Amino acid sequence: MIVRQMIKDDIPRVYSIACTSLDEYYVPDVFSYFLQQWPKGQFVATSYSGEIIGFICGSDLGSDRVGIPLFAVRDDQRGCGVGSKLLHHLRCNAHIEGAHTVQLEVRKENENAIRFYRNRGFMITEVLYSFYRNGGDAIRMIGLASLIS
Ligand code: ACO
Repeated sequence: MIVRQMIKDDIPRVYSIACTSLDEYYVPDVFSYFLQQWPKGQFVATSYSGEIIGFICGSDLGSDRVGIPLFAVRDDQRGCGVGSKLLHHLRCNAHIEGAHTVQLEVRKENENAIRFYRNRGFMITEVLYSFYRNGGDAIRMIGLASLIS
């Protein structure tokens, strides 16, 4: 598996993984927005044949902090280290660009993702009630931007 920076041509494939993996509805333009806002903060994971199997989007939140607005691995590729590698690349780049912390929000019921982040040093900082469009609650988690993760 290879991790590289996302380019505009990746968006249709990335969008299709987002639609099948994430609960919220997103328009494809959201990926163009993040690519424009922070080109070096968007990554895709590909198989050796070049097929996109996962992605992570970073956003610049200011105040030495970056966010993870969107992150998913294709369901048939989960549990094999793809997500860990994508998160590692984002945390490294965040550190190189001068950020200290990485912040994200995850659905309260998404126990797999919460465990995934906890196991990688993220801590729960607050509960955000009615954070999602359908009224669902979110957990905010914060970890370090770091070269070692
Ligand atoms: N599916 C998921 N995890 C599994 C599975 C499986 N089938 N089997 C085992 N695991 C374990 C792994 O052993 C590992 O455990 P560890 O934390 O003790 O090391 C962990 O779960 C998964 O690690 P990776 O393989 O590196 O991560 P993965 O490639 O599965 O990606 C991710 C993690 C992105 C959360 C993925 O599961 C996913 O796409 N989930 C659905 C979408 C989602 O919830 N996205 C995050 C929303 S929050 C946000 O975007 C900020």
